[in-house]
Parts: sequence; C-alpha cells; structure tokens
Amino acid sequence: MNDHPLLGEHFERHRRQIEREFGVPVPGEILPADQWTTTALKKLPPPGPLNFSGLFGRKVPLMLDIGCGNARSTLASAVWRHDVDHFVLPVVIRYATRRANQRGLKNVRFAVIGGRELLVDYIAPQSVDEIHVYHPQPFYDAKLVHKRLITPEFIALVHRSLVPGGLFVLQTDNPGYWKYMQQVVPLFFDFTEHPGKWPDSPKGRTRREIIALRQGLPVFRGTGKPRSDISAADVLKLAESLPPPTFDADRKLKELDKLEHGADTSDKPRRDAKRR
Ligand SMILES: C[S@@+](CC[C@H](N)C(=O)[O-])C[C@H]1O[C@@H](n2cnc3c(N)ncnc32)[C@H](O)[C@@H]1O
Repeated sequence: MNDHPLLGEHFERHRRQIEREFGVPVPGEILPADQWTTTALKKLPPPGPLNFSGLFGRKVPLMLDIGCGNARSTLASAVWRHDVDHFVLPVVIRYATRRANQRGLKNVRFAVIGGRELLVDYIAPQSVDEIHVYHPQPFYDAKLVHKRLITPEFIALVHRSLVPGGLFVLQTDNPGYWKYMQQVVPLFFDFTEHPGKWPDSPKGRTRREIIALRQGLPVFRGTGKPRSDISAADVLKLAESLPPPTFDADRKLKELDKLEHGADTSDKPRRDAKRR
C-alpha cells in the first residue's frame, strides 16, 4: 500500500497492475477481484457442433487459438477486440485461465481438448472466422512425430471449419516444420508469408515467439484464406494424397524448449502509477 499522505485509497484503486513476461507487458491489466470472470469450460458436452452463441450469449465473429500455451496472443486479441469471441485450447489451463479471469474477459473460453479433436467433433463446417496456431510443437523424437499437429488432415479440417474468406494464422520457429507448411498449406489456402514482425506485437505475439526472437532465431509467419476453387470433397481427397509431416525437426533447437517450459516466469505484476 502506498503511504504517501496525498495518495489514499482512492489513488490505490486507480493504479494499474501490469504483468510482464521477459520484460514484455502481458496484454491487459489485472482488475480488482470483484471484476474477475470465469473463463475455463470445465466440461465439454458430448460431441456435436458447439453452440457458441449460447456459450457467449451473443453472435459475433469467433476465433480459435489452438495450442495457446499461456494464451498471451489470445489475451491481446480479446483485450483489444471486444467484438470477437475466442475459444482457446491450452493443454495446461491454469496460467491461461488465471490471466483471462483476472482481466475480466467475457469474450474468452478455454477448453482442454486436442486441436484436431475439437475440429472433428465440435466445429460445424464454415462456422469459425479465424483459426490461429502459433508454434505447434515440432516433436524431435522419432517416436513422437505422429503427434505433430499440422498434418494434411488438420489443414483440411481448418479449411472445412473456416467461413469463406476466414483467416488462418500459422507460425513456427522450426525451419523444418515451416518448410513442410510451405509445401502443404498453399494447396488449401491462399497463403501469404509475413517475414517481418507482427506490427501489433513487435516483441512477439506469444511467449514462444518472444523467446525465439530474444535468442535471435528466425520466426516464420503466414496467413491464409481458404481456397474457394476446391470443393469439400476435393479437400478431403487432397489431404489423403499428401505426405505426413515427417521432417527432421533438428534436435539442436530443443534447447529452446527448456526456456519455454520453465515455470511461467512472468516478472512480478508491476503497479504502474498511471491512472486509468
Ligand atoms: C510450443 S507450445 C506454443 C504455445 C504458444 N502457442 C506460444 O506460441 O507460446 C505448443 C502448445 O500447443 C499445445 N498442444 C500440443 N499439442 C496439441 C494439440 N494436439 N492440440 C492442441 N494443443 C496442443 C501444447 O500444450 C502447447 O501449449
């Protein structure tokens, strides 16, 4: 508490709590506890198209963030785009939900489910406006290669799920994975590579991107819109005809994972003396 005689409880109430991670502010600010929300979806219903308008109580564009990690990218999007709802898949849910709850976000829900399973079981065709996948795990061990998320089937599912003209955002720091994506994704999407940093987050949209940039590693980014010149049936046939992602992920890059998987080492929330 601040004990300056001129700075009483009123001032305290109006100070902002900003968290930082590797020195980079986490989007949004921690609100007083009476404004926190509950963003974790404890249990998914039985498979079938999820009723997102029922879940969020409104019908606005929907964004999926698949494999969100600590959800930094989702927080930025949700804090700045109140008119977009966000459905987010972390595997470890606690950091992501805590931050979203503390920011009082009403346009975010987290569920624990694999990205492929979500698209297969819960997402109706042409029902999602944006799907973002940042730094899917490359899986270095040959025994785990089958767990790679970006497969022809997954890309076909993204194509099926997006509305016409919808947005697919894909990013990795793994050159082998990117090479594979470059070969496969443009067959389904009008795909544009973005070699420069994101203008909205030049230090990185996600925790993993921040770590990679701090290490001076390249980050590969691309956005795509579903190609409209292939039918749903052809998309499936195409996916079946393409090779799985069996690229060499280069074990040297595994070192980076240690930094990423360290505890969520956010710098302590810092109080900024700015008034809201
Ligand atoms: C390398 S981390 C990247 C996290 C975050 N997107 C970032 O860029 O900082 C990969 C994330 O994908 C999640 N993940 C792994 N396999 C997944 C799957 N099949 N479906 C959804 N998420 C998955 C992991 O739990 C982890 O949070």
